[in-house]
Amino acid sequence: MSLDQAYWQNRYDEGKTGWDIGYPSPALISYFVDRNIPKTAEILIPGAGNAYEAEALFKLGYTPTVIDLASAPLENLLKRVPAFLKEKVEQADFFEHTKSYDYIIEQTFFCALDPTLRVAYAKQMQRLLKPKGKLVGLLFASQTPSGPPFGGTKAEYENLFTPFFSILEMAMCTNSIKPRQGNELFIELQAK
Ligand SMILES: C[S@@+](CC[C@H](N)C(=O)[O-])C[C@H]1O[C@@H](n2cnc3c(N)ncnc32)[C@H](O)[C@@H]1O
Repeated sequence: MSLDQAYWQNRYDEGKTGWDIGYPSPALISYFVDRNIPKTAEILIPGAGNAYEAEALFKLGYTPTVIDLASAPLENLLKRVPAFLKEKVEQADFFEHTKSYDYIIEQTFFCALDPTLRVAYAKQMQRLLKPKGKLVGLLFASQTPSGPPFGGTKAEYENLFTPFFSILEMAMCTNSIKPRQGNELFIELQAK
C-alpha cells in the first residue's frame, strides 16, 4: 500500500477519517496559550488535515501555515474560516517544503507516515525549524503491528530524535482527549 496523495484524498472522499477529532486538540492549544507564545511566531502544521488547531490559533491571533497532500481538508478549512490567509494554505508534500519556522505542530502526521520515513521526517523537521525552533505535539505511543497509524515506544522516539533535537519534554500527555488518554506522548523538541 502506498500512502500517497491518492490514498489520503480517497480517505477524505470516502469519509474514512477516524483520526479526525472534529475540534482543536486541547493539549496543543494550551501550549501556545499557557506559555504566552508570541502571536508573531511562525508556525507550521504539516499533514494538518481539517486543521482545527490552525483555525483555533488563527482565531487567537496567530497566522499558522498549513500543508497537506490532500486538497479536501484544506478546502474544508477555507470554507469554515474564509478569513484564513490563502497563502498560508498549501497542498504540498511536507518533505519538499522549504520555509523556516519557530514552531512546528505534530498531531497524527508522524504516525500516518510509512515508518521507513522516520529518519527523513526528523531531519526535515530540523531543517524546517529556525535555530532553536521547536517541534511540539503528540506522538502515538503504542505498539501497532500495522498502520496507519504506526506507533512506537518512548525509547524508539528518543533514539530517533536525539541526533537532531534536544528533548525538552517527552512524557505521557496529561491533557489528552479521553479516547487517547494513556496512548500519546506530549513532545517539545528543540532543534539542535
Ligand atoms: C492521519 S491524518 C491526520 C490529519 C490531522 N493532523 C489531524 O489530526 O486530523 C494524516 C494527514 O497527513 C497528510 N499527509 C500524509 N503524507 C503527507 C505528506 N508527505 N505531506 C503532507 N501531508 C501528508 C494526509 O493527507 C492526512 O491529512
